[in-house]
Amino acid sequence: MKTVLTDDPAEAAECIRKGGLAAFPTETVFGLGCNVFDDAAIAKIFVAKGRPQDNPLIIHVADPAAIYEVASTISADARALIEAFFPGPLTVVLPKKLEVPDSASGGLSTIGVRMPRSILAREFLSLCATPVAAPSANISGRPSPTTWQAVLEDLDGRIDCILKGEAAEIGLESTVVDCSSPVPVVLRAGAVSLEDLRVILPKLAIVENNFADAPRSPGMKHRHYSPRAEVELIVTAEQIDLPERSGYIGLHDRNENFALVRICDSTAEYAHSVFEFFRECDRAGLNGIFCECVDEAGIGAALMDRLRRAAE
Ligand code: TXA
Ligand code: MG
Repeated sequence: MKTVLTDDPAEAAECIRKGGLAAFPTETVFGLGCNVFDDAAIAKIFVAKGRPQDNPLIIHVADPAAIYEVASTISADARALIEAFFPGPLTVVLPKKLEVPDSASGGLSTIGVRMPRSILAREFLSLCATPVAAPSANISGRPSPTTWQAVLEDLDGRIDCILKGEAAEIGLESTVVDCSSPVPVVLRAGAVSLEDLRVILPKLAIVENNFADAPRSPGMKHRHYSPRAEVELIVTAEQIDLPERSGYIGLHDRNENFALVRICDSTAEYAHSVFEFFRECDRAGLNGIFCECVDEAGIGAALMDRLRRAAE
C-alpha cells in the first residue's frame, strides 16, 4: 500500500469516508483514524498497529453535539467535564451506543470520547462527517508520534494517508476519565491535570492498580511508550554508571558524557520532547536512555507515568 502524505484535510477526510485509514495531528499526539461505524476499517487499524484486540479506541468528534452519536447517556459529572475541558486534551468514558461496533470498544459497553483542540484536527474531523475512532498513530508499544515524520517511520506502507500538520503541541496523550461509574475515575494522566479536574469534580478518584487482571483501562496493562533503548529513571543528584552510548533527557545538565542530550527549560517542554527524544535515541542506535524524574504536579504526573511505563 502506498501511504499518501498531504497538507489538505479534505483529502485525508475523503480517505476516511472511503473506508481507509488516515493519520492526523492533534494537540496531544498524532492519531490513526477511521470511521467508527465501519467494522472493516476498525479491523484494519488493529492490524496496522499490531494492537491487542482488547484495547479500546478513543472516538474523536468535531463538536460536542456529535457525542450523542456514540454515547447513550452523559452523566451530570461527564457534562461538567465536557463543558470545562472540551475542546482539549481530555477523553471521557461514557456508556456506548449499540450502533458503535464492539470492535471499537474492545468488547466493553463503554467508549472513550474526545474533542481535540487542534484547529487542523477539528477541520479534518468535521470534513469526515462521522465520529472517528483513533488510537495513537504508532506501532503498538512504541513511543506515541508527535510529528508526521514519526508516524511515517512506524506506519509507512501500512496506512492510506497522513495529514501532515505541525508537531503536537503537548506531546503526551490525553487524560482519560471514566464517567460511566458513580464516582468518576482518572484512568490515564494527561495535560488536563488532577488539580484541574478536581476544581470541577472534587470527589474524583484515581485508578490504583492498572496492572491487575481486569484493569479499568485495558490499554494501560500493555507495555507502552518504549524505545528499543533501555530507559532508566534517575533522580537529580544520583550517581550513574554510564553504559556505552546512552542518552539523557531532563531539566538539569549533568557531567557525564552522553551521546545525545536534551536539557528542557520546563516540565511542559520535557513532556513535549520526550517521545521524540526516545525516537532520536533509537535512530542513533543508543543502548540506554537516562530520564530525570520530575515533580508530579500538573503535567509532571503524566510525564512520570509515561517514563515509568517506558522503563518497565
Ligand atoms: O491523546 C490521545 O488520547 C490520543 C490522540 C490520538 O487523541 N489517542 C490515544 O489513543 O492516546 P490510544 O489508543 O493510544 O489510547 C487510548 C487509551 C487506552 O489506554 C485505552 O485503554 C483507553 O484510552 N480507553 C479507550 N476507551 C476506553 C474505555 N471504554 N474504557 C476504558 N479505557 C478506555
Ligand atoms: Mg497509544
